[in-house]
Amino acid sequence: MTDRKIVIAIDGPAGVGKSSVGRQFAQSIGYKFISSGKMYRALAYMAIKKGISVQDEKNLLSLAKSLSWEFKEVDGYEPVLYLGGHPLERELSNEEIGKATSSVARLALIREFLVNKQREIGSNGGIVMEGRDIGTNVFPNAELKFYLDASPQARAKRRVIQLKESGTDANYEEILRMIILRDEQDSLRKHNPLKKADDAIYIDSTEISRDEVCHIMLEAFKKVAPIK
Ligand code: DC
Repeated sequence: MTDRKIVIAIDGPAGVGKSSVGRQFAQSIGYKFISSGKMYRALAYMAIKKGISVQDEKNLLSLAKSLSWEFKEVDGYEPVLYLGGHPLERELSNEEIGKATSSVARLALIREFLVNKQREIGSNGGIVMEGRDIGTNVFPNAELKFYLDASPQARAKRRVIQLKESGTDANYEEILRMIILRDEQDSLRKHNPLKKADDAIYIDSTEISRDEVCHIMLEAFKKVAPIK
């Protein structure tokens, strides 16, 4: 047991709700929440803006190094990513950026660069960080790790509802196909593929709600870092 604020890793496949669960969980324990995928997405976004190919590792690395990377605490528990002085948020979530990001995230030198940034961000603890390789690679010694899973069908269904709620047309079969493809890309990738860490707590959220997932996380947290 420790009074020190710890690092908590949440990994899992695309569309499993790592962000929404992670945000709620971080808020409930007074920790900051960081989505590491945003950093990969932000680099892909900047590359497209500057006309750099998302497969051009050398130039992407130069671009990444030339920009300032900052998470600023604007309000609440989720710091906003400022890249090269610009806040990036909504522009990162579209499908075009998602696809480009998948290429960027395959590149070893880019991963090394961003993983080092992620380690810096977590160096003082008090962080819930979600991604694909947080428990296996970024923070292999994290005191608490979760691997959140759900069937591709359940994830596709949730995504369709989400898109429809935001007024976007959505086709279940198409989304299911994309999710299965993304799973394959993430797990078969050569560098830091999606994988459950041996010491991560496995949570299957196919049949349970976000509140229930959060409850499981909270109970696990209380065992390693009791809230005063
Ligand atoms: O979680 P997300 O959809 O924002 O992630 C975007 C992309 O970045 C996705 O292709 C997986 C990749 N990613 C990664 O390789 N490692 C991480 N720690 C986080 C995201």
